[in-house]
Amino acid sequence: MISPNKEVLQEIYSPINPIGRNQNLISKQFFWKLFQIHSPGFKINPENEKIIYTIFRYFLGQANFNEFGVIKNKPCLEKGLLVYGDYGVGKSTLFDAIHETGKIIVGKNQNTQLWFPRISTVHMLTKYYEAKKDPASNFKLENYYRGKLYLDDLGKEDKAYNREEIIGKLLFERHRGRLKTFVTTNENPSAIAARYGSHIGDRLLEMFNIIKWEGKSWRE
Ligand SMILES: Nc1ncnc2c1ncn2[C@@H]1O[C@H](COP(=O)(O)OP(=O)(O)OP(=O)(O)O)[C@@H](O)[C@H]1O
Ligand SMILES: [Mg+2]
Repeated sequence: MISPNKEVLQEIYSPINPIGRNQNLISKQFFWKLFQIHSPGFKINPENEKIIYTIFRYFLGQANFNEFGVIKNKPCLEKGLLVYGDYGVGKSTLFDAIHETGKIIVGKNQNTQLWFPRISTVHMLTKYYEAKKDPASNFKLENYYRGKLYLDDLGKEDKAYNREEIIGKLLFERHRGRLKTFVTTNENPSAIAARYGSHIGDRLLEMFNIIKWEGKSWRE
């Protein structure tokens, strides 16, 4: 849908690029151009635009990020994001695209404002099991008790060894450390509280800006 022209590419990749020189706050123009270039098939339409622009504004650190009112609890830039809702609306695709854009920005000007590691809860469980079997593995759940983190598919994972909710533990520790966590999930906050316990449910409001994303699936 969006095809960047040569001038835009030259401007962005020029070593003396004036855009994005600001190490403090990434400009929306700089972010937007990179996003368009690297996610050309990602469509923004009247159905999803309010949510997408709210999330962009959040990552750009704009105080008015909830102008469209899509966050129903108290909006705050210091909290993370919990985006839940229908299947196939683009939750994972959007966060993956922001993750990629953030990675490019780090590579270009060392600005880590939009940088966060990503992992799905199912993959985390797999790594957790692998680490128990392989002494050479460097995976530790504690490695995720710092920095920002994007967790995809919360609630899709099994309990470890059918008894241990390692993702619940991770959320608890990340809340304790006041760390920014970004979550995408099909589970609503009540279902998250029911699964991981009311001690987690009780922390969701202060840990996350909560966004419900409804819509038609893009999957055909
Ligand atoms: N805005 C969009 N424009 C074009 N294609 C999109 C858009 N959003 C999602 N898609 C496509 O739709 C499919 C589903 O998207 P995605 O996996 O991001 O949905 P999801 O909300 O994470 O779904 P689930 O809840 O099942 O995990 C993907 O193939 C993706 O490329
Ligand atoms: Mg998804």
